[in-house]
Amino acid sequence: MQSKTLFIGASLLAAAGCATVATGPQAIDWTKVPATRVAMFYPGQSSYQWLRSAGHKGAAKETQRGDACTSCHDDSEEEQTQGGKIISGKHPLEPQAAAVKGKAGHIEVKVQAAYDAKNAYLRFEWKTAQKHPGNDYPGYRFDGKEWKPYGHMRLTPNVLAGKTPAIYENRMSIMLDDGKVPGFANQGCWQTCHDSERDMPKAPTKDEVAANPLLGGVLKKSDVRKYLPASRNDANDWRSGKSVEEIARLKADGQFLELMQWRAHRTDKIGAADDGYVLEYRNFDQGVNPFTSNLDGKTKQPKFMFDAAKFGSKAMVAGDYGKKEMVLVKGMNAVPFDPNAGWKEGDILPQYVLSAEDSKGSAADNKAIGSWKDGVQTVVFIRPLGLANADDKALKAGGVYHVGFAVHDDNMTGRGHYVSYVRTLGLGAKADIQAVKLD
Ligand code: HEC
Repeated sequence: MQSKTLFIGASLLAAAGCATVATGPQAIDWTKVPATRVAMFYPGQSSYQWLRSAGHKGAAKETQRGDACTSCHDDSEEEQTQGGKIISGKHPLEPQAAAVKGKAGHIEVKVQAAYDAKNAYLRFEWKTAQKHPGNDYPGYRFDGKEWKPYGHMRLTPNVLAGKTPAIYENRMSIMLDDGKVPGFANQGCWQTCHDSERDMPKAPTKDEVAANPLLGGVLKKSDVRKYLPASRNDANDWRSGKSVEEIARLKADGQFLELMQWRAHRTDKIGAADDGYVLEYRNFDQGVNPFTSNLDGKTKQPKFMFDAAKFGSKAMVAGDYGKKEMVLVKGMNAVPFDPNAGWKEGDILPQYVLSAEDSKGSAADNKAIGSWKDGVQTVVFIRPLGLANADDKALKAGGVYHVGFAVHDDNMTGRGHYVSYVRTLGLGAKADIQAVKLD
């Protein structure tokens, strides 16, 4: 908690946990801000392609035509039953049903919004699956000789085979558009979810991605992630990326989605949320993220270790997961890695190191305050109004936006989340979620 006071100011500290909080000069009393209940469901592999196939019974044509998902799926009740069907173990949209056995098909999230002259404030509250804050993250484990990745999300083959434990951070994500992305208003986040992405059907090999002119050649990526149909010559083929010039033109026209993510491990401790956008890939904004890799590419050793005086030891061990907060933060509990510190087999160090001071540029626009208590997580995103960066969607008073939400919990990442159908967010304007003007 101390770190948050440092970087954001004590005034906002209580934003997530308590009902009343001062934001700069004024107070947000969240009990007075209307709440919208949004059911979010487990979507399995319901990709852009599946939705336009015969598998989507009797709805392929309508979906291709661009009809709203909610023209058939009732926005409130359906969301609650659809995930249950997919997670049941009997649905073709979840081939890894064993990995999600017992998981809830949907969750309910309470959403509230407010704004003042400077910022928009978006508050989310939901019950977590775990009995702890869900801020664990895979580490690097010393095996006596080398530091090797330890832990991964629940759907990973190595986790399913029992070779490494299920470990991942909880997350709250927002995708937002200002009317410029075709199809988003009606079909929301599903515009970005395609076969061939990580953990989706037909995922290509690393070599295939490396050989692709756009993904391997220009972007230097090794996998396929969220993309918008307009970034491809054929929306159904990840390989058919448009030229760098064409993609730059789409971006200049505002044909990209804002993506903001609060992460229980990688941003929470320093009061941040990361700032990214989706166009030809799931990109981060220009600048430096709140978190950076803790692996030295040359030595293949960690860059930072815990300060034993502050953390209690210089590293953690497997048994600490779920029990202890193991977030490595520069200027707080991190010191440069000492290769001669007498490392023992089983020592684990985090894969990322956080720094509020180092994060900068457009990537550092968003702040967020999270709080977990008795199984309830609250997060308040703080998004400055009127951002003018090329990779941001500017929010302004009077504006109405389309938003889609996702929650990752229970050691999940990638597609293993709960998602919402699209909603409207209005800043002092009529919408599903109406942000209240603070005075
Ligand atoms: C024309 C009506 C229609 C539209 C538009 C439509 N769907 Fe469906 N959807 C259906 C029907 C019918 C089913 C099959 C239900 C069943 O098999 O019991 C279905 C099934 C699904 C399923 C599988 C789980 C389930 O409920 O059976 C998902 C996921 C889904 N739709 C998501 C979407 C999304 C996302 C969109 C928008 C991009 C969308 N649908 C648009 C009618 C529609």
